[in-house]
Amino acid sequence: SKGAAMVTAVAGRLHSQRLQVCHTLAPFSLSPGQLQQVRDRMRVDLERGLRKGTHTGTPVKMLPSFVCTLPSGNEWGKYLALDLGGTNFRVMVVKIRSGLRRSVRIYNKIYAIPLEIMQGTGEELFDHIVQCIADFLDYMGMKNTRLPLGFTFSFPCRQTGIDKGALVSWTKGFKATDCEGHDVVDMLREAIKRKNEFDLDIVAVVNDTVGTMMTCAYEDPKCEIGLIAGTGSNVCYMEEMRNIKCMEGNEGRMCVNTEWGGFGDDGALEDICTKFDQEVDEGSLNMGKQRFEKMTSGMYLGEIVRQILIDLTSRGLLFRGRITERLKTPGIFETRFLSQIESDRLALLQVRAILQQLGLDSTCDDSIIVKEVCGVVSRRAAQLCGAGLAAIVDKIRENRGLDHLDITVGVDGTLYKLHPHFSTILKETVKALAPLCDVTFILSEDGSGKGAALITAVACSLCRGV
Ligand code: GLC
Repeated sequence: SKGAAMVTAVAGRLHSQRLQVCHTLAPFSLSPGQLQQVRDRMRVDLERGLRKGTHTGTPVKMLPSFVCTLPSGNEWGKYLALDLGGTNFRVMVVKIRSGLRRSVRIYNKIYAIPLEIMQGTGEELFDHIVQCIADFLDYMGMKNTRLPLGFTFSFPCRQTGIDKGALVSWTKGFKATDCEGHDVVDMLREAIKRKNEFDLDIVAVVNDTVGTMMTCAYEDPKCEIGLIAGTGSNVCYMEEMRNIKCMEGNEGRMCVNTEWGGFGDDGALEDICTKFDQEVDEGSLNMGKQRFEKMTSGMYLGEIVRQILIDLTSRGLLFRGRITERLKTPGIFETRFLSQIESDRLALLQVRAILQQLGLDSTCDDSIIVKEVCGVVSRRAAQLCGAGLAAIVDKIRENRGLDHLDITVGVDGTLYKLHPHFSTILKETVKALAPLCDVTFILSEDGSGKGAALITAVACSLCRGV
């Protein structure tokens, strides 16, 4: 009959729509073999980075941090800390107490960094930072107290001391001119001089991964790795001095900021990159750079999702085939939206409500597909991070000649903290790919600020000769 024929036609169309969506998303499912390959290539690139001299570029930069000891718990004092690297800039006073009343207290204020300053001139950026510090010191009534300062600066820096480091290149959303190749501490000092209102004692410049590791190590001495899975993606860990070829000395260890976000910049990830990854890279501020970061961090996952949705829509598989202005807008899928969409407690109707909030009109079928797209993109991100981390823990195990390693990773970042599945998949992947290691994950509270203060405290106590 006519009715039956129509049902068959509709079923056929749905079936073909399903097939096309599955086909589009298939390249995001990585096989165990592919993940092992990612782990092994990461391992090769960690070694390459450690072997290379200071001035040659390898995709994974392996930057010495000049942090050689974990906190002892005996740190004390009052410090100023700055945190630059996400969308906000934070200024903090950190009070550390040792002994029986051991504690860390933080007073802080958050300042927005407008886009035109992130992407303006270096002078404007550092003047803005100093303006924020001035406001904070006024607010705290501390303009005349000169505290030692730790500067968490979450970008690749080629350090030559705990308080010296040249910016290698901007990453994430920053692109201020005349900064790359310049010493960040000098740029801050010069801006303070230009303002001529107060003076600061800049003692340490610190990557956020290193701050996170130190903060967690303050609570758990087994913590020798710091992981950020947030706007950006990066890891640091304690490496043997004898393996860090650009540094003199063979004794002891130093924390190395891997800058693993650059993994793949020489094509090492070509076989798993999809055309959507390609498009995200081409639309970014740093084309061809930070390819691993662009597959694993909060700043880019939403963009991958958006590219897939545009593709499916243009093929009539989604949103009734209509590509709205909204869908063409970069940055609409922030980590918090992805996290909400993927939450299992959310009914599809609520997924539709979120899409509605984003200005996207969806049917029930649409919302199922969108959730699926978010799922494959974030799953791949967690697996890739897990594969990278597996390479690191196994390297540490081999460094120490152990059959078995027990180690803790200190973690920070919105993707890890907010996303409903990211951390679970990451942990599963590490377990599968590094079976000889037992890896515990602890969350850092206020990692960058506390960590910068702890590192500053250690540096100061060395100067004091305590
Ligand atoms: C980017 C930066 C890196 C930082 C990470 C997390 O990858 O290059 O230095 O640690 O983001 O914020």
